[in-house]
Amino acid sequence: MLRGKSLLEPMDLTVEEMEEIFSIADDIMSDPGKYIHCADGRLMATLFYEPSTRTRFSFEAAMHRLGGSVIGFSEPNSSSASKGESISDTVRTVECYSDIIVMRHPKEGAPRVAAESCKIPVINAGDGGHQHPTQTLTDLMTIKKYKNRLDNLTIGVCGDLMFGRTVHSLIKAMSRYKNIRLKLISPKELVIPDYVRKEVLVKNGVEFEEVRRMEEVLPQLDVLYMTRVQRERFFNEDDYIRLKDTYILDTDKMKLAKDDMIIMHPLPRVNEIAKEVDRDPRAHYFHQVKIGMYVRMGLIYSLLGLEV
Ligand code: NCD
Repeated sequence: MLRGKSLLEPMDLTVEEMEEIFSIADDIMSDPGKYIHCADGRLMATLFYEPSTRTRFSFEAAMHRLGGSVIGFSEPNSSSASKGESISDTVRTVECYSDIIVMRHPKEGAPRVAAESCKIPVINAGDGGHQHPTQTLTDLMTIKKYKNRLDNLTIGVCGDLMFGRTVHSLIKAMSRYKNIRLKLISPKELVIPDYVRKEVLVKNGVEFEEVRRMEEVLPQLDVLYMTRVQRERFFNEDDYIRLKDTYILDTDKMKLAKDDMIIMHPLPRVNEIAKEVDRDPRAHYFHQVKIGMYVRMGLIYSLLGLEV
């Protein structure tokens, strides 16, 4: 039963609960008309303390498409945060107006503080370099749709594995499926954090390899998950400039990949996938965006305990 729960990190949902959300999302995709009034009179608050295009719009579009309404801010300077209000006071206020809160924040753990401060569901829409569970729902549903399975996969994750929260959440979620082999492709400065290596990969006995060159593993992959270098989390601009173009996926490199490999990216892309690759039928990052809205509809539907 998902009603009333918060979603702060991927493991807050069991594999079965994720499946339930995917099946609602699937049903919405095939018959959206059935759901257009199910959230009538419900209100979502989106508290975005960090920039966002897809995540905020997809949550807002999802709520509107279910018949609900949205209030919120996307610019923290326009909220009382700029006057020094604590997260818990902001959330206790917003709770008086709304039924569900979606929060993005640069500080790791901020959505957890929010969830502990109120009684309505809180969804983590990305906390610093930590977790991004709704991107993971999107990613898993995309893999399931285009590879027909979530087990028995060789997945390459490439780019900024240190600061990329979508990567941390994806690795966590995939560690629960059988026969997953992860190829972690990054410069040595941007390898996965130790806690992910030890507490997720080693602890769950996931097969993984850390490599520097994409070409080395590309021919083995079923899924290639590209990410951008997270400029806003760097302490030093020179390091960012030195590392930002380490990996650029282009049509030449794609010749090394299997015919049925899928390319994913949480977006925004900077330079890491050449535009020419967009025409490759293996490119699925814009399909991923679409799936993201439906999966969030399924999530909102479940957490609010809606009915059709
Ligand atoms: C990601 C994020 O915000 O972590 N974007 C998204 O939500 N789709 C990825 C990124 O910013 O690189």
